[in-house]
Amino acid sequence: MAVTPDAPAPGALHGVGVGPGDPELLTLRAVRVIDDAAVIAYPATSQGESMALGIVEAFLRDEQTQVPLPLMFSPAQTPDDPAYDRAAEVIAGHLDAGRDVAVICQGDPLFHGSFIYLLERLGGRYAVEITPGVSSVMACAAAVARPIAHGMETLAVVPATAPEERLARVLAETDAAVVMKVGRHLGKVARVLAAAGLADGAVCVTRVGHPDQVVRPLTEALARPDGVPYFTVVLARRDGTAEAAA
Ligand SMILES: C[S@@+](CC[C@H](N)C(=O)[O-])C[C@H]1O[C@@H](n2cnc3c(N)ncnc32)[C@H](O)[C@@H]1O
Repeated sequence: MAVTPDAPAPGALHGVGVGPGDPELLTLRAVRVIDDAAVIAYPATSQGESMALGIVEAFLRDEQTQVPLPLMFSPAQTPDDPAYDRAAEVIAGHLDAGRDVAVICQGDPLFHGSFIYLLERLGGRYAVEITPGVSSVMACAAAVARPIAHGMETLAVVPATAPEERLARVLAETDAAVVMKVGRHLGKVARVLAAAGLADGAVCVTRVGHPDQVVRPLTEALARPDGVPYFTVVLARRDGTAEAAA
């Protein structure tokens, strides 16, 4: 955008990690950046529901403009989805008007987050600042008090949504694994972990840091007719220490 003498200087785009659920895992910097921003934008379902908003609610002020970004309608959404173009343009309108925008992101903004696709669209046009957040991976490990990986161990972090053959190839090589986006892919996840020798002691952590947090051994989750929700991480290691801790 060309800046004319009368136009305000563009605002800054902030990607702010707000952690996985417990507001106590907000960083001091996240609280400050959120407090300073004129506009708080958040990924939401088409019904306006937002996990990120729930985490920061107590820190918002009435004068701040809240902008839901309807980005969470399908886990199968691709990075070129027009919903990201529309969300980026809404944010750009506020930035062009000179308002700083904090996009609050559940967990860390640059780890499997929809903020990445907003950054791709807006990053070259506006000043950007990222505030890292506590990822669900770290919080899930903390909830079961087990190491994610240590020493010479290798760690693979994989989305359960990836094709089964690809997951099998990656997991065959690793000593420890974190599986994201589990939900309806639980059966596939269990098969690839078993084939890789990682299923013993694997644990499912659902909605960590929320009042309805649940920790279950993978075997128990598999036996449930309704499986596990999307907001579940599976932690697995070759020595299977997870189950004992859970
Ligand atoms: C799109 S990714 C976002 C990850 C996020 N940026 C982070 O750093 O944790 C969504 C996946 O993260 C995991 N996740 C996010 N929040 C969670 C929570 N509170 N409890 C368990 N898993 C969670 C789940 O595997 C979910 O499917």
